[in-house]
Amino acid sequence: MPLPFAEPYKTKMVEPIRRTTRQEREKLIASAGYNLFNLKSEDVFIDLLTDSGTGAMSSAQWAEIMLGDESYAGASSYYKLKNTIEELLGMPYFLPTHQGRAAENVLFSALMGMEAPDFVVPGNSHFDTTKGHIEFRKAKALDCTIDEAFDTSSQHPFKGNLDLNKLEEVFKKHPKENIPLCLITVTCNSSGGQPVSLENIRAVSAMCKKYGIRLFFDAARFAENAYFIKAREPGYADKSIKQIVREMFDLVDGCTMSAKKDGIVNIGGFIAFRDKELFERSCTFNIVFEGYITYGGMAGRDLGALSVGLREATEFDYLESRIRQVRLLGEKLMSCRIPIQEPVGGHAVFVDAKKFLPNVPKEQYVAQTLGVELYKEGGIRGVEIGTLLADRDPQTRENRYPALELLRLAIPRRVYSDNQMLYVVECLKNVYDRRDQIKKGYAIVHEAPIMRHFTVELRPV
Ligand code: F0G
Repeated sequence: MPLPFAEPYKTKMVEPIRRTTRQEREKLIASAGYNLFNLKSEDVFIDLLTDSGTGAMSSAQWAEIMLGDESYAGASSYYKLKNTIEELLGMPYFLPTHQGRAAENVLFSALMGMEAPDFVVPGNSHFDTTKGHIEFRKAKALDCTIDEAFDTSSQHPFKGNLDLNKLEEVFKKHPKENIPLCLITVTCNSSGGQPVSLENIRAVSAMCKKYGIRLFFDAARFAENAYFIKAREPGYADKSIKQIVREMFDLVDGCTMSAKKDGIVNIGGFIAFRDKELFERSCTFNIVFEGYITYGGMAGRDLGALSVGLREATEFDYLESRIRQVRLLGEKLMSCRIPIQEPVGGHAVFVDAKKFLPNVPKEQYVAQTLGVELYKEGGIRGVEIGTLLADRDPQTRENRYPALELLRLAIPRRVYSDNQMLYVVECLKNVYDRRDQIKKGYAIVHEAPIMRHFTVELRPV
């Protein structure tokens, strides 16, 4: 008989969290301009804003913090991380950066300079900072995700996959010199934490080779992606996560990494390269923007903790307990008939806000409305992945209405208990039971010209 499931770790330290009353929360969210980013974290009971930098480090990672070598150049902590990246990802060159978007900035500077109006970067749905760095350079991020990703009830096992026809159209339409790279985001955050299959990565890689285009991963959640390949893709059940990771990375030229996710650290990132020449070109930008090439904006201790975190994140038992908890939240919500992005993704449950709140007009920010309701209900903080995040068209300045309005409930790694997940389910169910009374959303009072969702201020309509 196989043993029943239990987490492969125990708790050494606890951090109290505070409950507030509904009356308090109504005041707090109003003074936050109905923007969940503006809340103080001490006013949040269960914080599902992001799984980024919010994980709990292990005792081995904390031990590595004490061993941190803070030398400016050539620190031993740098070499520990370099060895791990070489061993796990098979990439001979790497540059540390202070987080994922910094890796994007450095790499895109090396590939596109500061202004590249004719350039396009195809991929599956780019994350917002990635798109921000592309659009900041006046280039275009082209979404080639398969259509199934935009149907929340489709049971496709790899909804992060790229549509090869869409991709080939891009390659045929634009001259090779204007396509600095193709980017596969694993798992695809913007389409619901959905994985990309190895079969798809292999096919994209072959197409990129045929057209002479560089292929990179946005690898923020590469280990979770590997878990889904093991669990769902024929032929991979008996391979280890580390073998699958290696097979994935053998098909690309490099990656940008937000280590705050599958590195299980609170801050950090890197770029990994196969190509020495591109690495050398990127070094200059790393020094200008981030720091010297052996620390790049990270403390030595953080480089060490990341080296251990990458190894832990690619262990099957850890990944199983992680993804099982996300699935638990998703399945409990589904059993209450709450519409979510199916199948449940790797790092978060995405609630389909358009189906949840059909009476709120799209001009009034449906997913944001649901996020505010859930905070008022139980002090739970999710994040809008909808019209606020999609921002305005850079040319017309009109709102871009994405195919999906989602409320993302992102689960920090090794932080919350299953009971806390059940609390979230009960609170969301309470909102669902009174959904017919929710008919109005919010209007913008103030917004920034780019990446407005972080600082936007709203008022109830
Ligand atoms: N790429 C992906 C797929 C991401 O999810 C993120 C961040 C980044 C790049 C940027 O990395 O934050 O280290 O600069 N995602 C966080 C989130 C913020 O909440 O999903 P960063």
